[in-house]
Amino acid sequence: MSYTLQDVDTVTIQVLVDNELDPISKSQNPAVVDATAFRLRELPAGERGPAAMEMRMEDICCGAHGLSLLITATAGSTSHTLLFDAGPEEDVFEKNVTRSRADLSAVEHVHLSHWHRDHSGGLPRAIRMINAARTADGGLDKPTADVHPDRPIYRGFNAGPFIASLEADPTFEELEEAGAQVARRDDTHAVLEDMFLVSGEVPRKTAYEVGFPRGMRFTGEGKWVPDELIRDERFVVCKLKRKGLVVFAGCSHPGIVNICTHALAIGGGAPLYAVIGGFHLADGDAAKLEASIQGLQDLKPQILMPGHCTGWRFKFKIEQEIPGALVPCFSGTKYTLAGEGVGEAPA
Ligand SMILES: [Fe+2]
Repeated sequence: MSYTLQDVDTVTIQVLVDNELDPISKSQNPAVVDATAFRLRELPAGERGPAAMEMRMEDICCGAHGLSLLITATAGSTSHTLLFDAGPEEDVFEKNVTRSRADLSAVEHVHLSHWHRDHSGGLPRAIRMINAARTADGGLDKPTADVHPDRPIYRGFNAGPFIASLEADPTFEELEEAGAQVARRDDTHAVLEDMFLVSGEVPRKTAYEVGFPRGMRFTGEGKWVPDELIRDERFVVCKLKRKGLVVFAGCSHPGIVNICTHALAIGGGAPLYAVIGGFHLADGDAAKLEASIQGLQDLKPQILMPGHCTGWRFKFKIEQEIPGALVPCFSGTKYTLAGEGVGEAPA
């Protein structure tokens, strides 16, 4: 089934947490993707001669193994903001929000891509901070926490001689206690005035995207069972005016090509424009990387913004094989994508 998404004029992505940071490298194509990372503070007049601003190290965000994106879409005078995942640790989330001076008061919707701690660990404090900012901003509604209903008690992986468990994800009750309205959803649904579409389960079509090999879950009866597909992973997509779909992927356990293929299937006939998030190819072999780059090329994205679990080899491959498309996703950097004709004077 296909859905009608509202055309948006701009999409701003403030990366609150990613594995990597690089505040120095410039955008390769600032006309297409504006990227800013450094924040400067004003210096009192005359304190250091004619110097007007100071760059402080404590204003630079930290990297951490996980992902959190603050996404704002605008259409005319309307804008909506969605938090996509909250990174691995509450302290990291809070530190980077403070360092980047991110405004959480506009966050109406919190999306969890899947139940893995590197995406969910920061959620309780993120929700508390959003509520505090919204209360200070005039008592706005609680944010919705949009999560898949199938939360494993624990997830982990088979490391050969032993099973390694992750820490538990926050429970539904903990998210409610933090101040969210919890929505347990496994269906495809539009949110925030149809500016964003949240996917349901991603159909697995390619032969080379086989989930999270050796993934396991704890059943609660003392047993661990295979759980390689991570069926609860859901992506988010929006539609940039006259450019196409912007896809947000958490970890791409269903496969980045399967995710983009499904985004095209549900995205109302728009072409694929940009893909941002974790492509989960850091542990892929050479054949999988090759098949994935070919699969992406066939879908003709204009911009690829890999982060988190993508791995440096696949980023390098994008740069080599799809020149001009790579915009790495870095912790603390704010990226702006604009629709075609946006900001131009009417003819
Ligand atoms: Fe992840």
